[in-house]
Amino acid sequence: MNTQWTLDQATPHAGRVDALFLFLVAISVLVSLGVVTMVTFFILKYRRGKEADRTNPVDTHHKLELTWTIIPLIIFLGMFVWAGRLYFQMYDVPADAMEIYVLGKQWMWKFQHPDTGQLEVNDLHVPVNRPIKLTMTSEDVIHSLYVPAFRIKTDVVPGRYTTVWFEASETGNYHLFCAEYCGTSHSGMIGQVIVMPEDEYLAWAGGSPTGSQPASAAQAGEQLFSKVGCIACHKLDGTPGVGPSLAGVFGRPVKLTNGETVTADEAYLRQSILEPATQVVEGYQPVMPPYQGQLTEDQVLQLIAYIKSLGAEQGGTQ
Ligand code: CUA
Repeated sequence: MNTQWTLDQATPHAGRVDALFLFLVAISVLVSLGVVTMVTFFILKYRRGKEADRTNPVDTHHKLELTWTIIPLIIFLGMFVWAGRLYFQMYDVPADAMEIYVLGKQWMWKFQHPDTGQLEVNDLHVPVNRPIKLTMTSEDVIHSLYVPAFRIKTDVVPGRYTTVWFEASETGNYHLFCAEYCGTSHSGMIGQVIVMPEDEYLAWAGGSPTGSQPASAAQAGEQLFSKVGCIACHKLDGTPGVGPSLAGVFGRPVKLTNGETVTADEAYLRQSILEPATQVVEGYQPVMPPYQGQLTEDQVLQLIAYIKSLGAEQGGTQ
């Protein structure tokens, strides 16, 4: 490990990024070599005192000019298409990906596994050979989640959800960094991703060191739902109350009083919880109090997990 020349490649994506990178380096080296060779050749050929023809007759050579225009054009457009495809692969999350919530704050990473409720700080345990989707937000300033061995890096921004996904193909421990200068202890905002075989991961996720069974994110959200009073206005059986029913709402289109139709995704739900007056559903009064400042980002994610689980029970989309 100490005398390693290349970074670990712990995902198939890493190999693809490296291939593109090496190709870019090879092209740069070839072009540089070509230029330096010609410069050296002409320095020697036309140096002072050397017998050479300096009359500089004008000569055009269309075939040559077309060749050195068209070939580089094809190469450069090829690089663009290649990189573009990689980019889309990186942002196109597989439908069966396991979702994990990520919360960045000065100066730590918090991870919550929605299915099992496991919470961890700076360590992220994941099963091998399984697509993992990270849904990320920040409690304060902009951070950036960076796992070099996976070749993924995505900003973690307050007030919005960003996502990134990976599928680790090698078990092991991999460095996790914050890659956005975020204050005094930015350099200490580090951790590790622990990639485990599926069965070890399940044992880890099921075990609880304190003996208290961890509630899933959706269960924690369900408790919050009554505790902060959502349940007073939002019924869960599909019938309207003071506010719209939330059964099966996740992933569905919602018509707003301003005539717009939006999809009830994570960002919409978060906005509707924190600043409900900005997106009132058609047919309802803007009477819901804003929860901005009253709920932590953790709690908002738990409520969203709960609302999502209502969709699942209804056999909804997603
Ligand atoms: Cu968080 Cu740098």
